[in-house]
Amino acid sequence: MIINDQHKFQAIISHAKEYGFVFQSSEIYDGLSAVYDYGPWGSELKKNIRESWWNAMTRMHDNIVGIDAAIFMHPTTWKASGHVDNFSDPMIDNKDSKKRYRVDHLLEAAADELVKAGKQADAEKMLTDMDTLLAANDFAGLKQLIETNKIKCSVSGTCHWTDVRQFNLMFSTQLGSVSEEASEIYLRPETAQGIFVNFLNVQKTARMKIPFGIAQVGKAFRNEIVARQFIFRMREFEQMEMQFFIRPGTQKEWYAYWKEERMKWHQSFGIPADNYRFHDHVKLAHYADAAVDIEFAFPIGWKEVEGIHSRTDFDLKNHQQFSGKKLQYFDTEINQHYIPYVIETSIGLDRMFLLTLCHAYQEEKWQKEDGTEDSRVVLKIPAKVAPIKLAVLPLLKKEGLPEIAREIMASCRDEFYCFYEEKDTIGKRYRRMDALGTPFCVTVDHQTKEDRTVTIRYRDTMQQERIPMDGLAQFIKKKMS
Ligand code: GAP
Repeated sequence: MIINDQHKFQAIISHAKEYGFVFQSSEIYDGLSAVYDYGPWGSELKKNIRESWWNAMTRMHDNIVGIDAAIFMHPTTWKASGHVDNFSDPMIDNKDSKKRYRVDHLLEAAADELVKAGKQADAEKMLTDMDTLLAANDFAGLKQLIETNKIKCSVSGTCHWTDVRQFNLMFSTQLGSVSEEASEIYLRPETAQGIFVNFLNVQKTARMKIPFGIAQVGKAFRNEIVARQFIFRMREFEQMEMQFFIRPGTQKEWYAYWKEERMKWHQSFGIPADNYRFHDHVKLAHYADAAVDIEFAFPIGWKEVEGIHSRTDFDLKNHQQFSGKKLQYFDTEINQHYIPYVIETSIGLDRMFLLTLCHAYQEEKWQKEDGTEDSRVVLKIPAKVAPIKLAVLPLLKKEGLPEIAREIMASCRDEFYCFYEEKDTIGKRYRRMDALGTPFCVTVDHQTKEDRTVTIRYRDTMQQERIPMDGLAQFIKKKMS
């Protein structure tokens, strides 16, 4: 299935900006391509997703602990990991505009155009051919595929292409103050290596026995050549990765275990299962002996959100060789020293954020009792990660109602994120909270003064009911769980 709803995708991008979720970085200077800033509600949503992942991986597993490694690492790290030699993508330049494209992105964009023109089968064939040629590192074949399909440069509009060549995606910078003394170091392109180089530190200090995992969340940087699709592909992004260290020979069963476990986490957000699928890698990364993507049906098509990789002992073995330090584990159960094998789960936090927005965003229209039409844009974000859980709205700005609303704020804000709003009509405030994805609103009115009850309004159904204001925090926590 190829899905294509550019209208919806553009609407989500506009909504994200208008309601303070995501802004283009350095916008006042016309922005920086493929770099984004998260606004008040975006940073809150992102933090909640990060926490959900962190808790699911560390707190819910006795044998997984977390770390927070530095972004800068010794430059040899990237030699050992294979990134200096292998972390590159096939690129092609247009001879007239000099614009450079990642070959797979160029072909994917052309496939999107074919789908828009109703040529679904042609699009699928082109993508299948691309996968086969990429897997075979057949650069001449890839150029041929671009030429046969008459794919044009979006700037010059011509089909004058160079040969396909490989370009490294790592950013580098100088460490040291004086240029002669400075040495070139890289901004990490994945967080995983911070885990590998700390493998023994963590195993010993946290007294871990194999099988065990190390989890980490942090920034990663890639000089992505094609900067499109909003926060789907960024140059600075955040990864949530976990390396699970296992006895060699057990990788198949642990790979299957983590595939299932990670899919369960995705489905714990209440998103229907048919929005997800597994996609086995045809072309394996330089470190993997098996790899699968968890893909999601984004409005721009089925796209990867998470990778699960069986990384063998590739990384630890290479770090042992390049550092000259033993990175072995003594397994008391079998009385043997060995370099552990690794199953990795790696998900992009920004991509998970985009997935959440895409699924949550809905434009609803209905007929009112008087026959007129009404509409709203609502973000049906799962309550557990919604930026604001509860909006507290006094009906009027006077007559003692704000004071009671403030009392409710004081009783709930310790438990979850609450938002106080007294401007505008109640209808407008409800709409604004719908657009921010707030699952619960309570309204304080004159009856509250008499019997300490409030009206609670549920975002998804717009249903309202009267409930006691005392014990509200517990009531909402119960609803969220
Ligand atoms: N350590 C393994 C690794 O980095 P990857 O498939 O290259 O594997 C893992 O990346 C995840 O990181 C992807 O599934 C995606 O969610 C996210 N990711 C990768 N490149 C990204 C980019 N340029 N922008 C946003 N997210 C990205």
